[in-house]
Order: sequence, then structure tokens, then C-alpha cells
Amino acid sequence: MSDVSADIGKLREKLWQAKRVTVLTGAGISAESGVPTFRGEGGLWKQYRAVDLATPEAFFRNPKLVWEFYNWRREMLDLLGPNPGHYALAEMEQRISRFTLITQNIDDLHRRAGSRNVIELHGNIWWVRCTGCGALNEDRRVPLPALPECKSCGALLRPNVVWFGENLDPAVLDEAYEALSNCDLMMVIGTSGTVQPAASMGLQAKTAGAAVVEINLEPTPYSGIYHISIAGKSGQILPQLL
Ligand code: OAD
Repeated sequence: MSDVSADIGKLREKLWQAKRVTVLTGAGISAESGVPTFRGEGGLWKQYRAVDLATPEAFFRNPKLVWEFYNWRREMLDLLGPNPGHYALAEMEQRISRFTLITQNIDDLHRRAGSRNVIELHGNIWWVRCTGCGALNEDRRVPLPALPECKSCGALLRPNVVWFGENLDPAVLDEAYEALSNCDLMMVIGTSGTVQPAASMGLQAKTAGAAVVEINLEPTPYSGIYHISIAGKSGQILPQLL
């Protein structure tokens, strides 16, 4: 038996013995759906500058360009669907009484796969927020107008996502910390561990007493620190846990 299959066996045992499981996902979980990651090969931040497209200053300077980027991503996501990794996590939620999924992804693929207890740290690309009156609405139009306007007040809409330099919603963060501080197993899946506060969440769960297991195609700064690090594709590994 290879190390990987031994580690998958150990994780399977931990998973089905755990009373409370928390999962943190990043762009890697959606890679097998065809969604580009940010930092790997073909990653979005290798081709584009985040500072031009994903900051409040960029939006203030050139909202049309920022909306072009988000409309392009919405068009792409509209054609893609969840992969076996997303479906396996949704299935686990059905079978484990206390199961929380924290994601950095804005792509909505966890919900589309059937996950319900989802904490979206960085927002959701299918929701828009008014820059005038603050109204928050789901809007599935593809594409949106180049400069979409609020139905209530006419001001410019923005994607309801967290940009660099912005704070995460404190209520959302509180929910995430509650889930990671009180679980017996945390799985950290498909994230490079470079963006805070998500990057530290596995370590915080470990400090709080959870077994922490990473699933990632490549080593991360945390691979040697967690209890188990499994190298491979989440879409192949997660279904083996069921
Ligand atoms: P990254 O692009 O930084 O990292 C993706 C990780 O997924 C890498 O560690 C890859 O090795 C791994 N990976 C790729 N394919 C995989 C697969 N099939 N199975 C398992 N792992 C795989 O993405 P994130 O860590 O999610 O934030 O990035 C964090 C945040 O940075 C994003 O939420 C976004 C970005 O800027 C904002 O936009 C605020």
C-alpha cells in the first residue's frame, strides 16, 4: 500500500469516528471542474494583476474593467458544474451530524453540489451589492450589463465578494471560528495557504485540539505541520472517503 492510500485509510477512520467535522476549501477543490486557481499553473493572478481587478481602488478607478473580469468569470462558471470532490463533501454533510464547510471560493459550486451548511468567507459571485443603498440581491443574469445598476436606487452595483484590502464580514468570521475551534477533525482542501485569515485556520483548529488533514496537489507551507498531508486531487481522494 502506498503512503497515500495508507493516509487516506487513516483519514477515513478519523472522519467516520469524528463527532464534529469542519472543512476549509480553496480554489483547488474547483480546479477539476475547470475553474482556474489563483496561484498555480494557469492561475488567475499569474495572468492578471489582482490590484487592477480585485481591490476597492480598482473598482473606484475603473468599474467597467472590474465588471468585465467578474462577468467573464460568471460566464465561465455558468457553463461549469461541481466535480466529484464537491459531491463527496455534500454527501458527508448528509451522513455526519455536525458538519461545517468553510470555503474561500465565490463560485457557488459547493451549494450547487448539495452542501447546505456553507460559510463563504469571500462572498459569492452570484450576489450583487449596491454601492449606494447597500441592497444585497442574488442576480444570475449572464452577462450583466457592463455597469449594472441597483433596481431600488439606481446606484452602481458591485459583486458581493471580498476584495484585497477589505475586511471579511465579522459575523461570517465568527461562525467560521466557532466551527474550527470546536471540531475534532478539520480537513484543509485545495488551498495554497497564502491569504489570511483562512491561511491560519487549520493551525488554529490544531491548536484547539482537532486533528488536521490537508489534501492538496502540491505541498503548502502547512504540509509539515498538520497531522496528515495527502498529495493528490481532491476530486479523486474525497470520493474514496465515503
Ligand atoms: P490558490 O490558487 O492560491 O491555491 C490553490 C491550491 O489548490 C494550490 O495549493 C494547489 O496546489 C491546489 N490544487 C490545485 N488543483 C487541485 C486539486 N485538483 N486538488 C487539490 N488541490 C489542488 O487558491 P486559494 O488558496 O483558494 O481571494 O486562494 C485564496 C484566495 O486568494 C482566494 O479565495 C482569492 C485569492 O486571491 C480573494 O479573491 C479575496
